[in-house]
Amino acid sequence: MKKFRIGIIGLGMGKSHIEGFQSHPAGEVVAITDLDKEKLATVAAKYNIPATYTDAAEMLAAEKLDIVSVVTPNKFHKDLTLAALKAGCHVLCEKPMAMNAAEAEEMLATAKKCGKRLMINFSYRFRPQSYAMKKLVEAGELGNVYFARTVWQRRRGMPGFGGWFGTKALAGGGPLIDLGVHRLDLALWLMDYPEPEWVIGSTYNPIATAIAAKKGLTYDVEDFATAMIKFKNGATLELEASWAGNIKENELMETRLLGDKGGLHQYNLNGTYEFEVEFYRETAGCQYDSKLHPPVPECYNAQYSLLEAIINDQPTPASGEQGLTVMRLLDTIYKSAATGKPIQM
Ligand SMILES: NC(=O)c1ccc[n+]([C@@H]2O[C@H](COP(=O)([O-])OP(=O)(O)OC[C@H]3O[C@@H](n4cnc5c(N)ncnc54)[C@H](O)[C@@H]3O)[C@@H](O)[C@H]2O)c1
Repeated sequence: MKKFRIGIIGLGMGKSHIEGFQSHPAGEVVAITDLDKEKLATVAAKYNIPATYTDAAEMLAAEKLDIVSVVTPNKFHKDLTLAALKAGCHVLCEKPMAMNAAEAEEMLATAKKCGKRLMINFSYRFRPQSYAMKKLVEAGELGNVYFARTVWQRRRGMPGFGGWFGTKALAGGGPLIDLGVHRLDLALWLMDYPEPEWVIGSTYNPIATAIAAKKGLTYDVEDFATAMIKFKNGATLELEASWAGNIKENELMETRLLGDKGGLHQYNLNGTYEFEVEFYRETAGCQYDSKLHPPVPECYNAQYSLLEAIINDQPTPASGEQGLTVMRLLDTIYKSAATGKPIQM
């Protein structure tokens, strides 16, 4: 079996990329890059990785890699992805794909020009429950899906408060671009990525900016964002994302799909990252609820899925094209929020 030489840039979430690639017999993570030398040494030792770099350009020049994961703060996704593609690598880039749609377009165009794959790590798709939900939708059990609501809200949960996540120049946006992007992709994927037509969005920042100001920290993105997206096929999607809001739950995640034959609901349990899935329908004149019971068949993680797609010459899952659609929606939500008007895509 051909072994794939893989490099990882950025060692926060990058550690889970190492684990994902190492779970495939063809995945060999041979090099890692981070600005932080201590992290480099710890991660190299833990995962048995031979080469470490503090500069991605040096790694790309020295290592003849097949695949590179870009797992840095969002601001650096575009340039590092372009460099890796031009060095002849397929790229698995973290979400959000980029700071904005213009950057995402350049990344996708470069991938096409270089004849390389570009995948976005919409990791919530690559989970057993998500696959089970997708199969239910594909089996036609929901019928025509005309409405979805997808949510990730936190009561007070600003990641790395005062750091890059809350700094617009480094992150591009707040919870919309960080958490909302996951639940948005999940709903769009379940709905088979319908083409958006109209968007109305609102953003607010009544809480975190005030807390940051008291502590002398930077926070210049939204706390809360909401949007309604109308698709060309007539369906509507509601989206909510927040890092700070006056709600009961510390962490509230759910995605709901309403179809003319059935309804599907995934929700987290008691503020945890454990989820339950329920399916609702009318049969013989009565209303029934059913629950997805474990064990749910296992599925491939994102890194394993990319390797499988390359080896079997299959389409790239969570493709750069879908990443770009998401970035266009995020840009349009922010624009609608700024102008106070609905926007035709
Ligand atoms: N898919 C998911 O579930 C998920 C979860 C968390 C984060 N993320 C995404 O992963 C990315 C990284 O987030 P994180 O939580 O790991 O952040 P982090 O701040 O914990 O880690 C980022 C790492 O990148 C390094 N870095 C920064 N600039 C670099 C550069 N130019 N070259 C090499 N290394 C560089 C930093 O030193 C740091 O170690 C973000 O895009 C984030 O949205 C995705």
